[in-house]
Amino acid sequence: MKTIIIYATHHGTTETVAHLIWSKLDSQSTELVNIKKAKHLDLNDYDVVIIGSSIHAGHNQISIRNFCKKNMPELLEKHLGLFLCCMMEGKEATLNLQNAYPEILQNKAFFIQILGGEYKIDKMNYVERLMLKKIAGATESQSNIKYDLIDKFVQEIKQQAV
Ligand SMILES: Cc1cc2nc3c(=O)[nH]c(=O)nc-3n(C[C@H](O)[C@H](O)[C@H](O)COP(=O)(O)O)c2cc1C
Repeated sequence: MKTIIIYATHHGTTETVAHLIWSKLDSQSTELVNIKKAKHLDLNDYDVVIIGSSIHAGHNQISIRNFCKKNMPELLEKHLGLFLCCMMEGKEATLNLQNAYPEILQNKAFFIQILGGEYKIDKMNYVERLMLKKIAGATESQSNIKYDLIDKFVQEIKQQAV
């Protein structure tokens, strides 16, 4: 069974999470791909597909949304896992997740979860800092990566791959 983890990231948190998942799986049969750097992705080579993205001002990356739309028939044939990085909790977080991936893929996924997020002030430009202060009142870096849920996700991925 081959696994691919495809992700998009803005400030690197989704990459950190995707890399952590990858590092806990068999490196021989698991690939990690930043969608922005991928030239051609042939999903035929994989049995398990994991997709990760993050929320900025209420939306996840267009590259991931387009990828999901374009590859919908293939994705429906796979063992599919979906995750999202964001900082809001509760109702807003649930809404973020519902809007991030097509409903048909959400229903198909063996795992769909928010795995936390980070504010990296040093990576933000002036406008992003202003936006963050307005949206969340945050002015300092913060980390809220959900390591326990990442471990749970990894266990579920391993079960798909037997
Ligand atoms: C400018 C800005 C806007 C954000 N907007 C939201 C938001 O609307 N909802 C949310 O839950 N998190 C929001 N976040 C938090 C991000 O989802 C969080 O920083 C995440 O870890 C980013 O992951 P990435 O570095 O992989 O892109 C925002 C962060 C920034 C910097």
